[in-house]
Amino acid sequence: MTSEALAQLAGALRRLGAYDIDLQGLLPAWELHRLRLKEVPPWLASQAWVRLLCVGEALPRAEPTLGVEVDALIDVGLLEEVLPGHVVSGLQLYPFRGLAILTDWPSVTLGPPGNEPVMAIGTDSLELCLALAPPEPPGFPEAHLAGLRVLDLCTGSGIAALHALRCGAQEVVAVDISPRAAEIAKVNGFINGLDSKLTIHQGDLFEGIGEVHGVFDLMVANPPFVAVPASASASLYVDGGSDGLAVTRRLVAGACERLEKASRGTLVMIGEFPNLAAEEPRCLSFLASKSAWLAARGLLCRGASPKCCSLCSRACQATCSRA
Ligand SMILES: C[S@@+](CC[C@H](N)C(=O)[O-])C[C@H]1O[C@@H](n2cnc3c(N)ncnc32)[C@H](O)[C@@H]1O
Repeated sequence: MTSEALAQLAGALRRLGAYDIDLQGLLPAWELHRLRLKEVPPWLASQAWVRLLCVGEALPRAEPTLGVEVDALIDVGLLEEVLPGHVVSGLQLYPFRGLAILTDWPSVTLGPPGNEPVMAIGTDSLELCLALAPPEPPGFPEAHLAGLRVLDLCTGSGIAALHALRCGAQEVVAVDISPRAAEIAKVNGFINGLDSKLTIHQGDLFEGIGEVHGVFDLMVANPPFVAVPASASASLYVDGGSDGLAVTRRLVAGACERLEKASRGTLVMIGEFPNLAAEEPRCLSFLASKSAWLAARGLLCRGASPKCCSLCSRACQATCSRA
């Protein structure tokens, strides 16, 4: 997309109100998409642009509340006229804390190499963002990551990278192995006005960013963590190899190496451990040693022991610091 087209896209989304609502906590992207098949709740019924761009309904091109923005969005290639007089969106929009994030639709799960679908915003994406800047106290935590240099590994749509910038990070470098994800993350950087502080690389974890970026204060990651047998195919954003840890293991090893070399920094990541019985004792003893650090950052839920940390739940968050 040219920079004119990106500016046109951002302008149309702004006029529709995409930066003014926050769906986080209301509905994750998958639930939004399922609303196509159900009755749309009253709070959504009057928001034609939400139904078109976030839910995935086909709407009449002449829908009055969409006005001229329909033409702008057709022009830039986001909307397509598929049924006579009706438009649909090629991507899903997820408004999140002042950001407008575009992804592929949750129903698109496989694509040819180089054009694999970009993961829609999941509860794991949102958990990771909230771990970076918890929602309390109310109000936007502009200064939460003030001045930090951040690396987002497995960036996908770029949601964590962009959220980090909205929370005050000075600069974010992000990497994803999927060319399509790298492309869409760039689009998201631009339409949110954060492209000048965001560098996106396409490549494999740390190799993908090379050695040029120096030391990071914070690394964040939501790697693919679903166990997928070698005989099955799964999308890049899901496939964690036969034990679910193929990417996670390399990511943690590479992050630890860098944290050790720099003698500072923090890794915040989200993962799933299919063989929790084997992993849990190690994870819990590690978390116990970090409980004061975790508590100070609001990462121990219910404020009790590390046993209450979300590490114990299915989608678990492991936090490691050498700060
Ligand atoms: C679970 S998705 C997370 C996307 C996004 N960070 C989020 O939270 O919504 C995992 C992402 O990791 C990417 N990925 C998979 N293997 C990778 C690798 N070896 N190096 C870099 N990125 C990888 C996938 O393309 C996908 O975009």
